[in-house]
Amino acid sequence: MSHDVLDACGDLLRNSRHLLVFTGAGMSAESGLPTFRDSDNSLWARWPPETLASAEGFRDDKALVWGWYAWRMANIAKATPNAGHNALAELEDLRADLAVITQNVDDLHERAGTRRIVHLHGSIFQSRCFACARPFVGYEIPDGAIEDPSLRIMPPKCRHCGGYVRPGVVWFGEALPVTAWSQSEQWVRECDLLLVIGTSGVVQPAASLVSMARRRGVTIILIDPGQSEHVASVDHHLRMGAGTALPALLERVKSAR
Ligand code: OAD
Repeated sequence: MSHDVLDACGDLLRNSRHLLVFTGAGMSAESGLPTFRDSDNSLWARWPPETLASAEGFRDDKALVWGWYAWRMANIAKATPNAGHNALAELEDLRADLAVITQNVDDLHERAGTRRIVHLHGSIFQSRCFACARPFVGYEIPDGAIEDPSLRIMPPKCRHCGGYVRPGVVWFGEALPVTAWSQSEQWVRECDLLLVIGTSGVVQPAASLVSMARRRGVTIILIDPGQSEHVASVDHHLRMGAGTALPALLERVKSAR
């Protein structure tokens, strides 16, 4: 990657007034968490989404679905933020206007120190009752869950109504959280620079935020070493991992201060 492109993107960052960041699974790849669809090791290359990410799948086999999410919860809990998460958090310390919209259900942005953030697809640790939707707190991930994604584990039961508890993620066919979506639309309306990081751009309506920004004439930078659908609608494409690109951009922002 030429330093000229990084320098040009660093200039755009410095000159922007409302910086918006939109992240996907590639953001957490260098923390050891699998993406969904860009390699043979990705989650949806190994497991069928209709079984593990739908209300029907949960109704059909709760122990299979909960065991898989317990495996993901255990791996996320063990993972640590990477250099990309840390650089974004440090950038937020320098730039109060920075906001993050993530499709990720992990908490690595927050653990790095990011505060102005919404989760479009929910948060895996915010479990709730499948029947009455009340939050369920205090789940202890069973020993062994971290090693075996096919371990069958029954979900805990709701302390209010006795219904089964489901993971706090948005499944296929479900609406996005209303507040997170309206906040995201507002940030897209306000931003003058959008940084899109590690997302294939195939899941709607999340991906439409990038088209909305495009229609507004916002400058867009993509950080993705692979083949994102967003390639066609961005001004600059940094074909690098987030853990390399973001520290390099941060360095350029800091050196000009
Ligand atoms: P995908 O797995 O579809 O795409 C991951 C993107 O990250 C690809 O474009 C990769 O090229 C890129 N990538 C891989 N390593 C990277 C790195 N080190 N740095 C930067 N980019 C990298 O993941 P998403 O687009 O996030 O939904 O998937 C969208 C949604 O589909 C997810 O939120 C999930 C899934 O079904 C729910 O959980 C509801």
